[in-house]
Amino acid sequence: MLAARTGNLPQLGVTLLSGVLAEQLLARAPASVAAMVPANTGTEAVEAAIKIARAATGRARVLYAEHAFHGLTLGSLSLNGNAEFRDGFGPLLPGCDPVGFGDCDALESELARGDVAALVIEPVQGKGVNIPADEYLPGAQRLCREAGALFVCDEVQTGIGRTGRFLALEHWDLQPDMICLSKALSGGLVPVGAVLVSRAAFDKVFDGMERAVRHGSTFGGNDLAAAAALATLRVLDSEDLVARAQRMGELLLELTRPLVERFEVVADVRGLGLMWAIEFGPPGGAGARRLWERVEARQPGLFSQLVIVPLFREHKILCQVAGHHMNVIKALPALMVEEAEIRRFAAALEETIAAAERYPSALARFGLRTGIRAARVRR
Ligand SMILES: Cc1ncc(COP(=O)(O)O)c(C=O)c1O
Repeated sequence: MLAARTGNLPQLGVTLLSGVLAEQLLARAPASVAAMVPANTGTEAVEAAIKIARAATGRARVLYAEHAFHGLTLGSLSLNGNAEFRDGFGPLLPGCDPVGFGDCDALESELARGDVAALVIEPVQGKGVNIPADEYLPGAQRLCREAGALFVCDEVQTGIGRTGRFLALEHWDLQPDMICLSKALSGGLVPVGAVLVSRAAFDKVFDGMERAVRHGSTFGGNDLAAAAALATLRVLDSEDLVARAQRMGELLLELTRPLVERFEVVADVRGLGLMWAIEFGPPGGAGARRLWERVEARQPGLFSQLVIVPLFREHKILCQVAGHHMNVIKALPALMVEEAEIRRFAAALEETIAAAERYPSALARFGLRTGIRAARVRR
Protein backbone atom coordinates (compact mmCIF):
# COMPACT_ATOMS: atom_id res chain seq x y z
CA MET A 1 0.00 0.00 0.00
CA LEU A 2 2.80 2.40 0.89
CA ALA A 3 4.48 1.47 -2.41
CA ALA A 4 1.60 3.24 -4.17
CA ARG A 5 3.27 6.45 -2.97
CA THR A 6 0.02 8.35 -2.65
CA GLY A 7 0.32 12.06 -1.92
CA ASN A 8 0.47 12.13 1.87
CA LEU A 9 1.82 15.43 3.02
CA PRO A 10 0.59 16.31 6.49
CA GLN A 11 -2.49 18.53 6.50
CA LEU A 12 -3.03 18.34 2.76
CA GLY A 13 -6.63 17.24 3.09
CA VAL A 14 -8.18 13.78 3.02
CA THR A 15 -5.67 11.21 1.86
CA LEU A 16 -6.45 8.07 -0.08
CA LEU A 17 -5.44 5.42 2.45
CA SER A 18 -7.24 6.98 5.41
CA GLY A 19 -10.30 7.27 3.16
CA VAL A 20 -10.07 3.55 2.38
CA LEU A 21 -9.59 2.84 6.08
CA ALA A 22 -12.73 4.84 6.89
CA GLU A 23 -14.65 2.83 4.31
CA GLN A 24 -13.39 -0.48 5.72
CA LEU A 25 -14.07 0.40 9.34
CA LEU A 26 -17.54 1.72 8.60
CA ALA A 27 -18.36 -1.46 6.67
CA ARG A 28 -17.62 -3.41 9.87
CA ALA A 29 -19.42 -1.00 12.22
CA PRO A 30 -23.12 -0.63 13.05
CA ALA A 31 -25.28 1.46 10.72
CA SER A 32 -25.52 4.26 13.30
CA VAL A 33 -22.06 5.58 12.32
CA ALA A 34 -21.26 6.93 8.87
CA ALA A 35 -18.04 8.98 9.00
CA MET A 36 -14.54 8.72 10.43
CA VAL A 37 -12.44 11.34 12.19
CA PRO A 38 -8.81 10.15 12.24
CA ALA A 39 -6.55 10.41 15.29
CA ASN A 40 -3.18 9.09 16.43
CA THR A 41 -3.90 7.56 19.84
CA GLY A 42 -6.74 6.41 22.05
CA THR A 43 -6.78 9.52 24.17
CA GLU A 44 -6.84 11.70 21.06
CA ALA A 45 -9.86 9.76 19.76
CA VAL A 46 -11.64 10.39 23.08
CA GLU A 47 -10.75 14.10 23.00
CA ALA A 48 -12.30 14.28 19.53
CA ALA A 49 -15.45 12.53 20.77
CA ILE A 50 -15.81 15.03 23.66
CA LYS A 51 -15.46 17.99 21.30
CA ILE A 52 -17.82 16.56 18.69
CA ALA A 53 -20.43 15.74 21.35
CA ARG A 54 -20.32 19.28 22.73
CA ALA A 55 -20.42 20.96 19.32
CA ALA A 56 -23.13 18.65 17.94
CA THR A 57 -25.47 19.02 20.92
CA GLY A 58 -24.66 22.54 22.08
CA ARG A 59 -24.43 21.10 25.60
CA ALA A 60 -21.45 21.01 27.94
CA ARG A 61 -21.80 18.09 30.35
CA VAL A 62 -20.18 14.73 29.68
CA LEU A 63 -20.93 11.67 31.81
CA TYR A 64 -18.56 8.78 32.39
CA ALA A 65 -18.56 5.63 34.52
CA GLU A 66 -16.89 5.13 37.87
CA HIS A 67 -13.55 3.28 37.37
CA ALA A 68 -13.50 4.34 33.72
CA PHE A 69 -10.26 4.81 31.81
CA HIS A 70 -10.28 6.83 28.60
CA GLY A 71 -6.72 8.17 28.41
CA LEU A 72 -4.56 10.68 30.20
CA THR A 73 -4.71 13.99 28.33
CA LEU A 74 -6.75 16.66 30.04
CA GLY A 75 -10.15 16.00 28.42
CA SER A 76 -10.03 12.22 28.67
CA LEU A 77 -8.53 12.51 32.17
CA SER A 78 -11.64 14.48 33.12
CA LEU A 79 -13.57 11.25 32.32
CA ASN A 80 -11.26 9.09 34.41
CA GLY A 81 -12.96 7.25 37.26
CA ASN A 82 -9.84 6.73 39.37
CA ALA A 83 -8.35 9.26 41.79
CA GLU A 84 -4.85 7.80 41.26
CA PHE A 85 -4.82 9.23 37.75
CA ARG A 86 -6.73 12.48 38.37
CA ASP A 87 -5.20 13.78 41.58
CA GLY A 88 -2.88 16.73 41.22
CA PHE A 89 -3.87 17.70 37.68
CA GLY A 90 -6.97 19.77 38.47
CA PRO A 91 -8.96 21.68 37.76
CA LEU A 92 -10.08 19.29 35.07
CA LEU A 93 -12.75 19.99 32.43
CA PRO A 94 -15.90 21.39 34.04
CA GLY A 95 -19.16 19.51 33.51
CA CYS A 96 -17.72 15.99 33.56
CA ASP A 97 -19.54 13.80 36.08
CA PRO A 98 -19.36 10.12 37.04
CA VAL A 99 -22.22 7.63 37.20
CA GLY A 100 -22.01 4.08 38.55
CA PHE A 101 -21.05 1.51 35.91
CA GLY A 102 -24.24 -0.53 35.49
CA ASP A 103 -26.49 1.99 37.26
CA CYS A 104 -29.25 3.08 34.87
CA ASP A 105 -31.13 4.96 37.60
CA ALA A 106 -28.14 7.22 38.32
CA LEU A 107 -27.72 7.82 34.60
CA GLU A 108 -31.39 8.68 34.19
CA SER A 109 -31.33 11.25 36.97
CA GLU A 110 -28.19 12.95 35.55
CA LEU A 111 -29.73 13.00 32.06
CA ALA A 112 -32.95 14.51 33.45
CA ARG A 113 -31.16 17.84 33.85
CA GLY A 114 -31.29 18.16 30.05
CA ASP A 115 -27.71 19.44 29.73
CA VAL A 116 -25.76 16.26 28.93
CA ALA A 117 -23.87 16.19 25.64
CA ALA A 118 -22.76 12.54 25.92
CA LEU A 119 -22.20 9.45 27.97
CA VAL A 120 -18.74 8.02 27.19
CA ILE A 121 -18.50 4.38 28.19
CA GLU A 122 -16.25 1.32 27.76
CA PRO A 123 -18.43 -1.71 26.91
CA VAL A 124 -16.14 -3.75 29.17
CA GLN A 125 -14.07 -1.68 31.58
CA GLY A 126 -10.34 -2.17 31.18
CA LYS A 127 -9.61 -1.33 34.82
CA GLY A 128 -10.90 -4.45 36.54
CA VAL A 129 -12.31 -6.14 33.42
CA ASN A 130 -15.82 -5.24 34.57
CA ILE A 131 -18.46 -6.80 32.35
CA PRO A 132 -21.87 -5.11 32.66
CA ALA A 133 -25.17 -6.94 33.17
CA ASP A 134 -26.87 -7.73 29.85
CA GLU A 135 -29.47 -4.99 30.13
CA TYR A 136 -27.17 -2.11 31.13
CA LEU A 137 -25.66 -0.91 27.84
CA PRO A 138 -28.88 -1.17 25.77
CA GLY A 139 -30.67 0.63 28.64
CA ALA A 140 -28.02 3.35 28.83
CA GLN A 141 -28.20 3.84 25.06
CA ARG A 142 -31.99 4.17 25.18
CA LEU A 143 -31.87 6.67 28.05
CA CYS A 144 -29.29 8.79 26.18
CA ARG A 145 -31.43 8.80 23.02
CA GLU A 146 -34.51 9.85 24.98
CA ALA A 147 -32.58 12.70 26.62
CA GLY A 148 -30.97 13.95 23.39
CA ALA A 149 -27.47 12.98 24.64
CA LEU A 150 -24.98 11.13 22.47
CA PHE A 151 -24.03 7.56 23.37
CA VAL A 152 -20.30 7.06 22.85
CA CYS A 153 -18.59 3.66 23.06
CA ASP A 154 -14.88 3.79 23.85
CA GLU A 155 -13.66 0.62 22.13
CA VAL A 156 -10.00 1.57 22.30
CA GLN A 157 -9.31 -1.58 24.31
CA THR A 158 -12.31 -3.78 23.52
CA GLY A 159 -12.39 -3.17 19.76
CA ILE A 160 -10.77 -4.94 16.78
CA GLY A 161 -11.65 -8.48 17.85
CA ARG A 162 -10.53 -8.42 21.48
CA THR A 163 -13.83 -9.67 22.94
CA GLY A 164 -14.61 -12.22 20.23
CA ARG A 165 -16.55 -9.73 18.10
CA PHE A 166 -15.00 -7.12 15.81
CA LEU A 167 -16.51 -4.52 18.17
CA ALA A 168 -17.59 -5.44 21.70
CA LEU A 169 -20.80 -3.45 21.19
CA GLU A 170 -21.98 -6.29 18.90
CA HIS A 171 -22.57 -8.42 22.00
CA TRP A 172 -25.48 -6.10 22.84
CA ASP A 173 -26.46 -4.92 19.31
CA LEU A 174 -25.67 -1.33 20.22
CA GLN A 175 -25.99 1.53 17.75
CA PRO A 176 -23.82 4.28 19.27
CA ASP A 177 -23.45 7.84 18.01
CA MET A 178 -19.66 7.52 18.21
CA ILE A 179 -17.11 4.73 18.54
CA CYS A 180 -13.49 5.40 19.60
CA LEU A 181 -10.80 3.06 18.26
CA SER A 182 -7.01 2.79 18.62
CA LYS A 183 -4.53 0.28 20.14
CA ALA A 184 -4.95 -2.94 18.10
CA LEU A 185 -6.16 -1.02 15.06
CA SER A 186 -2.61 -1.03 13.67
CA GLY A 187 -1.76 -4.43 15.13
CA GLY A 188 0.18 -2.52 17.79
CA LEU A 189 2.73 -1.42 15.20
CA VAL A 190 2.30 2.33 14.78
CA PRO A 191 0.21 4.94 16.59
CA VAL A 192 -3.26 5.17 15.11
CA GLY A 193 -6.71 6.18 16.30
CA ALA A 194 -10.12 6.91 14.87
CA VAL A 195 -13.59 8.01 15.89
CA LEU A 196 -16.51 6.64 13.93
CA VAL A 197 -19.27 9.25 14.06
CA SER A 198 -22.96 9.34 13.14
CA ARG A 199 -23.84 11.34 10.05
CA ALA A 200 -26.01 13.70 12.14
CA ALA A 201 -23.26 14.54 14.65
CA PHE A 202 -20.56 14.81 11.97
CA ASP A 203 -22.63 17.16 9.81
CA LYS A 204 -23.43 19.42 12.76
CA VAL A 205 -19.74 19.86 13.55
CA PHE A 206 -18.22 20.07 10.07
CA ASP A 207 -20.99 22.08 8.45
CA GLY A 208 -19.29 24.39 5.99
CA MET A 209 -16.01 25.36 4.38
CA GLU A 210 -15.04 27.61 7.26
CA ARG A 211 -15.71 24.86 9.79
CA ALA A 212 -14.21 21.97 7.80
CA VAL A 213 -10.89 22.09 9.66
CA ARG A 214 -12.15 22.89 13.14
CA HIS A 215 -10.86 19.57 14.47
CA GLY A 216 -7.88 17.52 13.33
CA SER A 217 -4.15 16.98 13.83
CA THR A 218 -1.09 17.03 11.60
CA PHE A 219 -0.51 13.31 11.60
CA GLY A 220 -4.08 12.04 12.05
CA GLY A 221 -4.87 9.76 9.10
CA ASN A 222 -1.28 9.55 7.82
CA ASP A 223 -0.49 6.89 5.24
CA LEU A 224 1.79 4.78 7.42
CA ALA A 225 -0.85 4.44 10.15
CA ALA A 226 -3.65 3.84 7.64
CA ALA A 227 -1.60 1.20 5.80
CA ALA A 228 -0.83 -0.59 9.07
CA ALA A 229 -4.52 -0.48 10.02
CA LEU A 230 -5.63 -1.80 6.61
CA ALA A 231 -3.05 -4.59 6.82
CA THR A 232 -4.32 -5.44 10.31
CA LEU A 233 -7.90 -5.69 9.07
CA ARG A 234 -6.77 -7.93 6.23
CA VAL A 235 -4.94 -10.32 8.57
CA LEU A 236 -7.85 -10.27 11.00
CA ASP A 237 -10.08 -11.52 8.17
CA SER A 238 -7.67 -13.90 6.44
CA GLU A 239 -6.73 -15.63 9.71
CA ASP A 240 -10.26 -15.44 11.11
CA LEU A 241 -8.86 -13.94 14.30
CA VAL A 242 -12.11 -12.60 15.70
CA ALA A 243 -13.75 -16.03 15.76
CA ARG A 244 -10.50 -17.43 17.13
CA ALA A 245 -10.55 -14.86 19.97
CA GLN A 246 -14.03 -16.04 20.86
CA ARG A 247 -13.01 -19.73 20.79
CA MET A 248 -9.80 -19.23 22.76
CA GLY A 249 -11.63 -16.99 25.25
CA GLU A 250 -14.23 -19.69 25.83
CA LEU A 251 -11.47 -22.25 26.37
CA LEU A 252 -9.66 -19.93 28.79
CA LEU A 253 -12.84 -19.47 30.83
CA GLU A 254 -13.64 -23.18 30.75
CA LEU A 255 -10.17 -23.98 32.12
CA THR A 256 -10.01 -21.22 34.73
CA ARG A 257 -13.59 -20.83 36.04
CA PRO A 258 -13.28 -24.02 38.14
CA LEU A 259 -10.54 -22.22 40.13
CA VAL A 260 -13.34 -20.36 41.97
CA GLU A 261 -14.53 -23.67 43.43
CA ARG A 262 -11.04 -25.05 43.94
CA PHE A 263 -9.41 -22.20 45.85
CA GLU A 264 -10.78 -20.08 48.67
CA VAL A 265 -8.80 -17.03 47.60
CA VAL A 266 -10.27 -17.02 44.09
CA ALA A 267 -13.38 -14.85 44.27
CA ASP A 268 -14.20 -14.63 40.57
CA VAL A 269 -12.99 -15.49 37.08
CA ARG A 270 -14.54 -13.55 34.23
CA GLY A 271 -13.94 -12.73 30.61
CA LEU A 272 -15.33 -11.85 27.24
CA GLY A 273 -13.36 -13.23 24.32
CA LEU A 274 -9.69 -12.67 25.06
CA MET A 275 -10.27 -10.04 27.73
CA TRP A 276 -9.95 -12.08 30.90
CA ALA A 277 -9.48 -11.52 34.64
CA ILE A 278 -9.19 -13.39 37.90
CA GLU A 279 -10.16 -11.69 41.16
CA PHE A 280 -8.85 -12.70 44.58
CA GLY A 281 -10.58 -12.25 47.92
CA PRO A 282 -9.79 -13.09 51.57
CA PRO A 283 -9.79 -16.80 52.49
CA GLY A 284 -12.28 -18.22 54.98
CA GLY A 285 -10.08 -19.59 57.84
CA ALA A 286 -9.19 -17.15 60.63
CA GLY A 287 -5.38 -17.68 60.39
CA ALA A 288 -5.25 -17.42 56.62
CA ARG A 289 -7.49 -14.38 56.70
CA ARG A 290 -5.17 -12.67 59.19
CA LEU A 291 -2.21 -13.28 56.85
CA TRP A 292 -4.19 -11.89 53.95
CA GLU A 293 -5.08 -8.81 55.96
CA ARG A 294 -1.44 -8.24 56.97
CA VAL A 295 -0.35 -8.38 53.34
CA GLU A 296 -3.19 -6.14 52.21
CA ALA A 297 -2.59 -3.65 55.03
CA ARG A 298 0.77 -2.85 53.41
CA GLN A 299 -0.89 -1.99 50.16
CA PRO A 300 -4.39 -2.91 48.96
CA GLY A 301 -4.12 -5.19 45.96
CA LEU A 302 -0.71 -6.54 46.98
CA PHE A 303 -1.94 -10.14 47.17
CA SER A 304 -2.14 -10.25 43.38
CA GLN A 305 1.63 -9.77 43.21
CA LEU A 306 2.01 -13.08 45.07
CA VAL A 307 0.64 -14.71 41.96
CA ILE A 308 2.08 -12.39 39.31
CA VAL A 309 5.69 -12.68 40.47
CA PRO A 310 5.93 -16.51 40.53
CA LEU A 311 4.00 -16.68 37.27
CA PHE A 312 6.74 -14.59 35.72
CA ARG A 313 9.72 -16.05 37.59
CA GLU A 314 8.83 -19.71 37.34
CA HIS A 315 6.66 -19.90 34.24
CA LYS A 316 7.90 -16.91 32.21
CA ILE A 317 4.34 -15.66 31.88
CA LEU A 318 3.89 -11.91 32.11
CA CYS A 319 0.54 -10.52 33.19
CA GLN A 320 -0.45 -7.53 35.30
CA VAL A 321 -2.90 -6.23 37.83
CA ALA A 322 -5.97 -4.69 36.25
CA GLY A 323 -5.79 -1.42 38.20
CA HIS A 324 -4.82 0.29 41.45
CA HIS A 325 -5.93 -1.09 44.79
CA MET A 326 -7.63 -4.16 43.40
CA ASN A 327 -6.82 -7.84 43.58
CA VAL A 328 -7.58 -8.47 39.96
CA ILE A 329 -5.09 -9.93 37.49
CA LYS A 330 -5.85 -9.34 33.88
CA ALA A 331 -4.73 -11.12 30.72
CA LEU A 332 -5.10 -9.81 27.18
CA PRO A 333 -3.36 -12.47 25.08
CA ALA A 334 -2.54 -11.81 21.45
CA LEU A 335 -5.45 -12.82 19.22
CA MET A 336 -3.31 -15.46 17.48
CA VAL A 337 -2.63 -17.22 20.79
CA GLU A 338 -2.42 -21.01 20.41
CA GLU A 339 -4.62 -23.46 22.27
CA ALA A 340 -1.48 -25.01 23.83
CA GLU A 341 -0.47 -21.59 25.19
CA ILE A 342 -3.89 -21.08 26.78
CA ARG A 343 -3.59 -24.52 28.38
CA ARG A 344 -0.07 -23.75 29.62
CA PHE A 345 -1.26 -20.46 31.16
CA ALA A 346 -4.21 -22.12 32.91
CA ALA A 347 -1.99 -24.90 34.31
CA ALA A 348 0.67 -22.41 35.49
CA LEU A 349 -1.98 -20.26 37.14
CA GLU A 350 -3.44 -23.22 38.98
CA GLU A 351 0.00 -24.37 40.16
CA THR A 352 0.87 -20.87 41.37
CA ILE A 353 -2.35 -20.37 43.30
CA ALA A 354 -2.05 -23.87 44.80
CA ALA A 355 1.46 -23.00 46.00
CA ALA A 356 0.13 -19.75 47.46
CA GLU A 357 -2.41 -21.75 49.46
CA ARG A 358 0.13 -24.38 50.54
CA TYR A 359 2.80 -21.98 51.79
CA PRO A 360 0.82 -18.98 52.98
CA SER A 361 3.35 -17.81 55.56
CA ALA A 362 6.29 -17.79 53.13
CA LEU A 363 4.15 -15.89 50.70
CA ALA A 364 3.04 -13.49 53.37
CA ARG A 365 6.71 -12.78 54.19
CA PHE A 366 7.30 -12.15 50.51
CA GLY A 367 4.23 -9.91 50.42
CA LEU A 368 5.36 -7.93 53.44
CA ARG A 369 8.87 -7.48 51.97
CA THR A 370 7.38 -6.36 48.64
CA GLY A 371 5.01 -4.02 50.44
CA ILE A 372 7.81 -2.44 52.46
CA ARG A 373 9.84 -1.97 49.27
CA ALA A 374 6.84 -0.44 47.50
CA ALA A 375 6.22 1.91 50.43
CA ARG A 376 9.90 3.00 50.32
CA VAL A 377 9.71 3.70 46.59
CA ARG A 378 6.55 5.75 47.09
CA ARG A 379 8.34 7.87 49.68
C1 LIG B 1 -10.61 2.22 26.93
C2 LIG B 1 -9.43 3.09 26.68
N1 LIG B 1 -9.60 4.31 26.17
C3 LIG B 1 -8.56 5.13 25.90
C4 LIG B 1 -7.26 4.74 26.19
C5 LIG B 1 -6.13 5.67 25.91
O1 LIG B 1 -5.40 5.23 24.82
P1 LIG B 1 -3.91 5.80 24.58
O2 LIG B 1 -3.05 5.17 25.61
O3 LIG B 1 -3.58 5.38 23.19
O4 LIG B 1 -3.99 7.27 24.73
C6 LIG B 1 -7.04 3.47 26.73
C7 LIG B 1 -5.68 3.04 27.05
O5 LIG B 1 -5.43 2.12 27.76
C8 LIG B 1 -8.14 2.63 26.99
O6 LIG B 1 -7.98 1.41 27.52
